[in-house]
Amino acid sequence: MSNWSPASWRRYPIKQSPNYKNTQYLYNTEETLASYPPLVFAKEVDLLKDKLKQVAQRKAFVLQGGDCAESFARFSASSIRDFYKLILQMSIILGFASGKEIIKIGRIAGQFAKPRSQEFEERDGQSLPSFRGDMINASEFDSKSREHDPQRMIQAYHQSVATLNLLRAFSKGGMADFHLFPQYNLEFANTHPLSKRYKQLANHISRAFAFAQSCGINLQSMGNFCEFFISHEALLLNYEEALCRKDSLSGEIYDCSSHFLWIGERTLSSPAHIEFIRGIQNPKGLKISSRTSPDDLLKLLDILNPQNLQGEVALIVRMGKDNIQTYFPTIVEKIKQYGKEVIWLSDPMHGNTTTSQGLKTRQFESILEELRHFFALSLDLGIYAGGIHLEMTGENVTECIGGSVTQEALYQNYITQCDPRLNATQSLELAFWLSEVFQNNP
Ligand code: PEP
Ligand code: CO
Repeated sequence: MSNWSPASWRRYPIKQSPNYKNTQYLYNTEETLASYPPLVFAKEVDLLKDKLKQVAQRKAFVLQGGDCAESFARFSASSIRDFYKLILQMSIILGFASGKEIIKIGRIAGQFAKPRSQEFEERDGQSLPSFRGDMINASEFDSKSREHDPQRMIQAYHQSVATLNLLRAFSKGGMADFHLFPQYNLEFANTHPLSKRYKQLANHISRAFAFAQSCGINLQSMGNFCEFFISHEALLLNYEEALCRKDSLSGEIYDCSSHFLWIGERTLSSPAHIEFIRGIQNPKGLKISSRTSPDDLLKLLDILNPQNLQGEVALIVRMGKDNIQTYFPTIVEKIKQYGKEVIWLSDPMHGNTTTSQGLKTRQFESILEELRHFFALSLDLGIYAGGIHLEMTGENVTECIGGSVTQEALYQNYITQCDPRLNATQSLELAFWLSEVFQNNP
């Protein structure tokens, strides 16, 4: 990798970068982070890459989801547990319908930095720097809170460590038992018809497993069912650089802040972000929209995956329900024409944001509509729809309109740090809807 190092991005123009006032303090913070243990290990990252190769070969499906932005204030064991249970529920529904391994990737344990369209936010005639995620500044609207503070990277690191520790405990022990499948339902939603539907399915699967066991088939180990990977947007490069580590076996550099990292739609055109991501061994996502030029995308793929290997790059399509039919086929044809190895994921959230009386929201129906187009177009174009990327939470929030959340109910529990998320029942509904798509197109 000529001329690349974890710090080489610093030689390039950058977008969406914080404006730290005290550079000595920033430098000291980066040094501290660089001295800390990695969050993930090279071997785990390689395992995820192998799994993504399976997606490229149409044998597995990605379920990626989590908060738009994780929050320091709302950090709790119960919200991590509920999110994890919900992801397991969805993967049972999707795995049973598709017969494929569902690769579970959280937007979690590092998803603290946000790109913003506007540098400043105006309220009542006052203008302050926009909130850029808890890793950079605080959301309260006063000048002290909105200052960019390097120390926040340290807090984000510690919260990520604790989050990942709990996720590892759940996936290695606590929840990896098929007898528990019916109990993954979340308490507040227990009486909801979708939870009942889930419980029926889970009971059915548990009984089938018990039957298999009675026939002498060994199901002691749950294999890869509870395996869980983490991901976030590689936006704050000071943090990402500080968590790069050299693998002692291969000598290669991995960004050990996360298994999977993506470049957001706004930083696809940021030379520094492309420089950083091209050198790390992690699998990478690129968010693409109607604004992404197919020719520029080809150039990016040459840079990011020069050997054109499977499982290295995921294109996360976030065009919105109104644009996907126009722009997605052009991009797909270009990628096919040049034989580029990519996997295709749909992010049906980001092109479908609207405002409702000053609150950002999303219509559940628009989200489904984009997904419907994504799956139908993929089939027509002869590519494999390899997964979905969602903003979702196990908490009982009212942020997207649809299902039990009406326009009037939007204010009841609207607590997102940034974009609106699907709640648990909306996520289950989406999973059941998708299971029918799988059953109709095996
Ligand atoms: C996000 O995933 O929260 C995000 C900001 O997405 P995008 O870069 O696609 O706008
Ligand atoms: Co978002």
